[in-house]
Amino acid sequence: MITFSSPADMRAWADQQRSTGKTIGFVPTMGALHSGHAALIADAARRTDLVVVSIFVNPLQFNESTDFDSYPRPIDDDLAACDAAGVAAVFAPTTSAMYPPGFQTRVLPGSLGDVMEGPSRPGHFEGVVTVVAKLLGAVRPHVAIFGQKDFQQLRIITQMAADLELGVEIIGHPIVRDPDGLAQSSRNVRLSADQRAAAISVPHSLDAAVRSANDTDNVEAIVSAVRAVVIEEPLAEHEYTTVFDATTLEAIDTLAPEHRFAGKVRIATAVWFGDVRLIDNRDLFSA
Ligand code: PAJ
Repeated sequence: MITFSSPADMRAWADQQRSTGKTIGFVPTMGALHSGHAALIADAARRTDLVVVSIFVNPLQFNESTDFDSYPRPIDDDLAACDAAGVAAVFAPTTSAMYPPGFQTRVLPGSLGDVMEGPSRPGHFEGVVTVVAKLLGAVRPHVAIFGQKDFQQLRIITQMAADLELGVEIIGHPIVRDPDGLAQSSRNVRLSADQRAAAISVPHSLDAAVRSANDTDNVEAIVSAVRAVVIEEPLAEHEYTTVFDATTLEAIDTLAPEHRFAGKVRIATAVWFGDVRLIDNRDLFSA
């Protein structure tokens, strides 16, 4: 496995590989790799000849500096995990290599960035799509894999790749969960033992939503079912729950018969445990 810290060196290697006919699969990450990331890497390996993983904690997408400062950075473990997973190259640039003096261009998402996580995290998606555009420019992959864990991010990046003709196929990978149902996240390590136990209320609340959606078309009632599960948990503080169209991300008030198919409507929630913010989502009518 080879490691690059400069975008120019990364691109030179990628161009060399492409010139010999090799296909490149790319998994962008902020490190602190867990089995969710590993599943994306395995997916990329099935689709392409060479897998590149990027590890970069992108300051542009953090709207809270404490979240950026406390973000875990176990780089040695991450490199070992990539090596064990058969990754061909890791791109781990420094902040100054990504954002040198004079850097000024930003990519702006459209209305897909104005809902759900958008209002809660000002500037977040602008930071995400700007860094992803830059990472894609350095790695020049044929395919890039993103998790449905960050469903809005996946949708916004898919739209950017199409709108800007980036020439990369964007693939969404299903959410990987711990055996008890909690979606894996690099932030989970910051939960205390009590908070970790309490955090299963998040997937449980989405299970309650799925059950509720079988009985009612009233989205208000479905969201109340989510809140009711979270409120039972004293360590949890509910931020938002939204039922939305999986393509437009627009909020849905009342379910219609055409919504009741797999892949049409999703539910997403954000819940705080102390200063750790967890997000989760699922298909409301999976097959
Ligand atoms: P990060 O949070 O490290 O996640 C990297 C990728 O792994 C994202 O596509 C994310 O959706 C996916 N992922 C994380 N947890 C997952 C899980 N439990 N199941 C499936 N996929 C999961 O998302 C980012 O980094 C950044 O915003 C990034 C795209 C790298 C830009 O900086």
